[in-house]
Amino acid sequence: MCRRAETNRKDVRLRMTQRLDFGRLEKFGFAYPNALCVVDVRERAEPILFANDAFCTLTRYSREQLLGHSCRMLQAPETSAQGRGVLRAAIDARTSTVVDLINARPNGTRYLNRIAVFLVDDTHAVGFQHEVTDLPSARWIEAPLEGARAEKLAALETEVMASLRAILSGEALDYSSLCDQLVALSRRLHQL
Ligand SMILES: Cc1cc2nc3c(=O)[nH]c(=O)nc-3n(C[C@H](O)[C@H](O)[C@H](O)COP(=O)(O)O)c2cc1C
Repeated sequence: MCRRAETNRKDVRLRMTQRLDFGRLEKFGFAYPNALCVVDVRERAEPILFANDAFCTLTRYSREQLLGHSCRMLQAPETSAQGRGVLRAAIDARTSTVVDLINARPNGTRYLNRIAVFLVDDTHAVGFQHEVTDLPSARWIEAPLEGARAEKLAALETEVMASLRAILSGEALDYSSLCDQLVALSRRLHQL
């Protein structure tokens, strides 16, 4: 990770910590068309604080079933421990990452979930999820991203964080253009 990306990230997070507005994040989450959830990462319990409709559609769990529980409820016995470890390390270090994990729907169906986690302050992480089961390029990302892919993630992170910051600080009131922007960014997450 280059030093500049690291500095940007700290800077963005510092400012967001002071100005986080959960109501705005929730409002944006409902407008955002792809799966998104917000998790409290202060404790290992990692309760889901918010899940949008697309997240419920992807996971097939209702909001009531999800809220207050951890995203671990989506995992299956064969979910990669190594992949989970990558997420754990990123959350503990308060950095962002992307990982593909096998998840299970309530009826037992498995799917491959590409999970991008962005730490917006010391308490809240925003997760963007995409099903990549049928993606021709789908592959397991079980190790931390390195080299060019790590750089791509760092660049994406700066953009995603800037968008989230605009939402949370109230600078951005036009959620639809921000949604378009984040949808475009999430498409790039697919291609990492
Ligand atoms: C914002 C956020 C979203 C997450 N989304 C998912 C998810 O969709 N599916 C999943 O299997 N794990 C997801 N996780 C990961 C788990 O909650 C947990 O962090 C992971 O299993 C590593 O921790 P553990 O080793 O303590 O289980 C998410 C975590 C965060 C913080």
